[in-house]
Amino acid sequence: MGLLQRSDVARWWFSLFAPEYASFGSAVFWPESVQREWIDRLGIESGDCVLDIGCGTGGTIEHLSPASTEIHGLDQSVDQLKSAERVEELSTVDFLRANAHWLPYSDETFDCVVSVGSILYWADTEEVLREAFRVTKPGGRILVIGFNRRPMSLWNPIHNVQTATNEMLFFQYDADEATRLFREVGWQDVEHGITGPGWSANLIIATIACKKS
Ligand SMILES: C[S@@+](CC[C@H](N)C(=O)[O-])C[C@H]1O[C@@H](n2cnc3c(N)ncnc32)[C@H](O)[C@@H]1O
Repeated sequence: MGLLQRSDVARWWFSLFAPEYASFGSAVFWPESVQREWIDRLGIESGDCVLDIGCGTGGTIEHLSPASTEIHGLDQSVDQLKSAERVEELSTVDFLRANAHWLPYSDETFDCVVSVGSILYWADTEEVLREAFRVTKPGGRILVIGFNRRPMSLWNPIHNVQTATNEMLFFQYDADEATRLFREVGWQDVEHGITGPGWSANLIIATIACKKS
């Protein structure tokens, strides 16, 4: 288990970086272009009720376009949420502090669930995906973006240091593991894409799946 998958350590980590995160962290690891591409593929419609799990300072929510969509943002970090609540464009978002392993919403509440850059901190990925499945309406969809588990390279030591460091700190996974995790808790039509920021083209794995009616 990665060090930052411990909830207390992750909360401490994000309390250190909350003020800088909105302008720096999100742009470096989860660039807007990548987020927008995958959010578009998810196909959120105007009027949909959407949940962002691990919304942080609200970077992902800012990319969810239709103005009339009802948006909920959940995060376990008080500091991240405080930053999100200060953003004027996010004034209609319903923010809630909670742990993703126990989502405080009724069954079948949301049309879509998104989560960008949060899965790497979850102690029990299967449990969060099961909770996300429970709170999604039949016919609903999910998008999860996390770190791709990449093989070591024979010729690129920088890549190897980065991969080993990520492995020590975070949960990383490949497409086969994601398919297994999503299917095990009921998600269907699981699809993946490997992408990344300009400085690391295969750092990210994006997964979309649906809850069949
Ligand atoms: C990388 S940040 C989110 C970035 C955001 N999607 C963006 O693009 O700006 C990851 C967030 O997940 C939250 N998080 C990690 N583990 C969590 C958990 N178990 N429950 C709720 N939130 C969690 C962290 O507090 C952090 O704010």
